[in-house]
Amino acid sequence: MYAMKFPQRVICILLLVAVGWVPAPSFADPGVGQKLFKKKNCALCHNINNPGTVFSPVCPGLQGVRHRHSKDWLRQWLKDPAAVWATDDAGVRDINARYFRYRGSQPKPRESFMATIIGKGVVLTDEEIKVLIEYLWKL
Ligand code: HEC
Repeated sequence: MYAMKFPQRVICILLLVAVGWVPAPSFADPGVGQKLFKKKNCALCHNINNPGTVFSPVCPGLQGVRHRHSKDWLRQWLKDPAAVWATDDAGVRDINARYFRYRGSQPKPRESFMATIIGKGVVLTDEEIKVLIEYLWKL
C-alpha cells in the first residue's frame, strides 16, 4: 500500500484546511463575542439574563434578542443607533413599546440611551459587529 511521506502529508493537511474540509479556528466563536461584549461596554448597560421586557434600570435584557430583530437590523443598530433611532422604524417602536410598558407610563418621544455611547465614544468595526451578533444570537 502507498504510504504518504512526511512533506506530502503536511501539504495534504494544508490543502484540506484551505478548501475548508478541516475546520480552521474561527474568529466568530462565542468566546470572542463574550469578551468583546465586555470590552465594548455593552455589559455596563445590558443584563444578558433578563428578558427584553425588563429594562434595568433603562436598558433592555438581551435574552432571546434574536427573536426580536433581524441580523440586518442589528448590524445597522450596532453601527449607528442614533441613525436607526431617528427612523422610528418597527424595531425602534417595538423597543419603545416594551420600555413604556415596563415603566407603566404612556409612550412619548425620547432619545436613545444607547446612542450616547455606541456610535460616538465607542465605534464598532464591521468585524466586531459580526462577532457581537453571533454572540447575541446564542442568548
Ligand atoms: C449606555 C448604555 C448602553 C450601552 C453601552 C449599550 N447599550 Fe444596547 N441598548 C441600550 C438601551 C437603553 C437600549 C434601548 C434603546 C435605547 O434607549 O437606546 C439598547 C438596545 C439594545 C438592543 C436591542 C434590544 C431589544 O430588546 O430590542 C441590542 C441588541 C443592544 N442594545 C446591544 C448592545 C450591544 C451589543 C452593545 C455593546 C456594543 C450595547 N448594546 C451597548 C443601552 C446601552
